[in-house]
Amino acid sequence: SAQAPLTIERKPSAQPLPAAEREARLANPGFGRVFTDHMVTIRWTSGRGWHDAQLVPYGPLEIDPSNMALHYGQSIFEGLKAYRQPDGGVATFRPDQNAVRFRRSARRLAMPELPEETFVAAVEALVTQDEAWVPSKPEQSLYLRPFMFAMESGLGVKPADEYLFMLIASPAGAYFSGGIKPVSVWLSREYVRAAPGGTGEAKCAGNYAASLVAQAHAAEQGCDQVVWLDAAEHRWVEEMGGMNLYFVYGAGPGARLVTPELTGALLPGVTRDSLLTLASDLGYQSGEGRISVEEWQQGNADGSLTEVFACGTAAVITPVGTVKSTAANWTVADGGPGEITMRLRKALLDIQTGGAPDPYGWMHRI
Ligand code: COI
Repeated sequence: SAQAPLTIERKPSAQPLPAAEREARLANPGFGRVFTDHMVTIRWTSGRGWHDAQLVPYGPLEIDPSNMALHYGQSIFEGLKAYRQPDGGVATFRPDQNAVRFRRSARRLAMPELPEETFVAAVEALVTQDEAWVPSKPEQSLYLRPFMFAMESGLGVKPADEYLFMLIASPAGAYFSGGIKPVSVWLSREYVRAAPGGTGEAKCAGNYAASLVAQAHAAEQGCDQVVWLDAAEHRWVEEMGGMNLYFVYGAGPGARLVTPELTGALLPGVTRDSLLTLASDLGYQSGEGRISVEEWQQGNADGSLTEVFACGTAAVITPVGTVKSTAANWTVADGGPGEITMRLRKALLDIQTGGAPDPYGWMHRI
């Protein structure tokens, strides 16, 4: 990956979707169902490195049935968003951070590392080309999905010698359909998401595959989402579904926010990281720590724990309202969205949508 950044060759579609049809699809996009006119593809071949970076019409791929990613799961992805700005322009949020994490995920799965500049160049090329697909309604954005998988054919278990990086884009409304409604969570002791030394901090497809049965189990218990506990003791809170968690102690200016520390089993979220900074800018104490299930329940019972929320790119900030487990059930405070939760949500969205200054240079203008 000491290679110079690639230039992305533009081969746009001669027939992008007509504007009226695009607007119809943008009216109520949901999440991850509608895709823009184009995509970026970049190939990697052993001995040659990255090559053939292209922006091409969105469309299906031809994959050999023995494709190694299908069999052995060398597949990683990222998620970031582009937001319409007040002046009509477009900006993405911290794409450099996704580029860095993408390299780390690649390393963990013995895949080649895409240079960060090339990752960002791909984002710029696609968003520029499909700029008309960036929605402008509140809570809407263009979700960008970079991903990479093995493209070698064969059944030998080894790192592939060919890979395909792709970037696709999907206009998105709210991730959870119910609006900003607090979710109910199931504390999973039946399943674990990640163990020490595993792939927990990589954004790899397999982590999400492994989560689905636990999510279904949570739904059977009447809960919206699963909360993952540590693998060794089933005691320390790690994440919720595919999002990081925050715990708020106290209220008002003296409040303290804690997010589970990155032990190697947690996904290091870009939103999680941004909120550590934003919370302290808003005058709260913020930091990383360990939170046990007993502490969550106890803090709730004695009133010291006032709010809990989950955060991620797709759903931004989602309050946690009720908790269920084999041992006990409880409601977080009054079960409604907390004041600090909603204040942080607004502060983050204001930066992303250009409604507030961007003191850290997080926004990347396209
Ligand atoms: C997130 O943005 O919080 C996610 O993990 C995205 C999800 C659709 C995989």
